[in-house]
Amino acid sequence: MSQSVSVESLFTPFHSGSLSLSNRTVMAPMTRGMSPDGVPGANVAAYYRRRAENGVGLIVTEGTIVDHPDASNQKDIPHIYGEEALNGWAHVVAEVHGAGGKIIPQIWHMGARGHVNDYTESEIRSIVDAFAQSAADAKRLGFDGLELHGAHGYLIDQFFWEKTNSRTDGYGGSLVARTRFAVEVIQACRQAVGPDFPIVLRLSQWKGSDYAAKLAQNPDELKQFLTPLLEAGVDLFHCSTRRFWEPEFEGSSLNFAGWTKKLTGKPTITVGSVGLDVEFTSLFTEGKGAGNTGIESLLEKLDRQEFDLVAVGRALLVDPAWVRKIQEGRTNELIPFSAEALQTLN
Ligand SMILES: Cc1cc2nc3c(=O)[nH]c(=O)nc-3n(C[C@H](O)[C@H](O)[C@H](O)COP(=O)(O)O)c2cc1C
Repeated sequence: MSQSVSVESLFTPFHSGSLSLSNRTVMAPMTRGMSPDGVPGANVAAYYRRRAENGVGLIVTEGTIVDHPDASNQKDIPHIYGEEALNGWAHVVAEVHGAGGKIIPQIWHMGARGHVNDYTESEIRSIVDAFAQSAADAKRLGFDGLELHGAHGYLIDQFFWEKTNSRTDGYGGSLVARTRFAVEVIQACRQAVGPDFPIVLRLSQWKGSDYAAKLAQNPDELKQFLTPLLEAGVDLFHCSTRRFWEPEFEGSSLNFAGWTKKLTGKPTITVGSVGLDVEFTSLFTEGKGAGNTGIESLLEKLDRQEFDLVAVGRALLVDPAWVRKIQEGRTNELIPFSAEALQTLN
């Protein structure tokens, strides 16, 4: 089979601070809900190990829950607190490292049961402390960094968004004022892990309840929003979009990861429908142009250094060897995503 596009730029190493990756591919965080009572078992470790064995540069785990009563609504979503869950994660880390991979946990609080307006300052303090404790444990267990889930309408994002945060104290108000909770979480995690442990922050403009939502309407607002987060100690921004090829603002083809990199000077991860478009692979198999949704456009953006890393979700959920197959041009062997894949830890 002939391969008409070189994927070489996806397979160059990445170095930033203490994070060194063998290539530019990232497994996007995906909740699987297969950790009974919050404890990831041998099947979870084997699932992540398979991705590491097949060349994924960096694995971001499914969202893992901090120690707070509101943090989770499902008992089989893994915790990142408590001895049993932490032992489970230690095993996951050992398996991934044993296969030559790198792995960071995504640290998650799903959000206020009622409203973030209801949290008292002391409750906010206890949640910040829970994030910091999980961060410290992530480092102790040997993870290669950590990711804070600040996207998709969950707790950190509930504080960011005006529709879910109408607090009148120091945690509410302007877009910049609404970053205060995140800033405190980032600072506390930074304090807990020291200056050299990579902290990734995942952000999205879109919300689970409103795909068209935007925290920042233009680059100026985005810069105002990102600056306090950057100053609090973020090393790398993970910019969640549903389609990587969509420009974030009018007048430029840069996507959310492109703008975030430009405005912060920090490395960014792009994500959103990589490998899901049929044309993405027809480029290889039939030598056709794939328009702006295919791998050619992704690689062009990567070559222009609009972003540094490329996260892949569903394509890697269904096919543990997705990265290896792309690298070797074995695209006729790719397994297409289907909803049934969600039922098993393949
Ligand atoms: C089953 C599933 C579970 C997900 N769970 C999470 C999660 O725990 N944390 C998160 O930030 N995003 C989560 N996402 C979003 C993905 O990380 C990713 O951003 C999204 O699937 C788009 O990438 P894709 O088009 O390559 O799948 C999930 C997506 C899927 C399909």
